[in-house]
Amino acid sequence: MYGWDELEQACLSCRKCGLCEGRTKVVFGCGDRNADVLFIGEGPGRDEDASGIPFVGRAGKLLDDLLLAAGFERDKVYIANIVKCRPPQNRDPFPEEREACLAWLRNQVSLIRPKIIVCLGRIAAGVILHEDYRISQEHGQWIDRAGVRMTAVYHPAALLRNPSLKGAALTDFLKIKEEADALASKQA
Ligand code: URA
Repeated sequence: MYGWDELEQACLSCRKCGLCEGRTKVVFGCGDRNADVLFIGEGPGRDEDASGIPFVGRAGKLLDDLLLAAGFERDKVYIANIVKCRPPQNRDPFPEEREACLAWLRNQVSLIRPKIIVCLGRIAAGVILHEDYRISQEHGQWIDRAGVRMTAVYHPAALLRNPSLKGAALTDFLKIKEEADALASKQA
């Protein structure tokens, strides 16, 4: 396991899968490295590939709105992705790409030691929670694993395509904030 500096340096020069060929920037992750809550998306899109920062495009703006509405400050949570380089045309990352990239995320999780992990969308939930995760049926439900509370919410890009799901997403974000506050006050 690497410490933060070594980890970031190694990750930024990663060539473990073919996604490195098309990337502009590796999107390592951002936020509070001691955060209680870790959000995990799928992979960078065009704006993230250009900037090196997760969730800065249209879906990112919607994520910001949901975080704010629930009472989270973006710089007090940590945001990362399953794959750290942009898949061409934003296709779903292939299983071998997810597998190759997961070691970086695992190392990040070990360093952050979050109390809550929130998967943003079906792909992240399928990798982190269980393979046949059905987001429309299981979103917002808690799974406890190794002392960490885990859940998944609709991906912000899915909410842009289907705005009628925004209410359900907000309900989930509010529930997650309530749980984060409860865990923080237990610790205090
Ligand atoms: N979608 C994701 O899953 N991650 C990002 O960083 C941006 C869009």
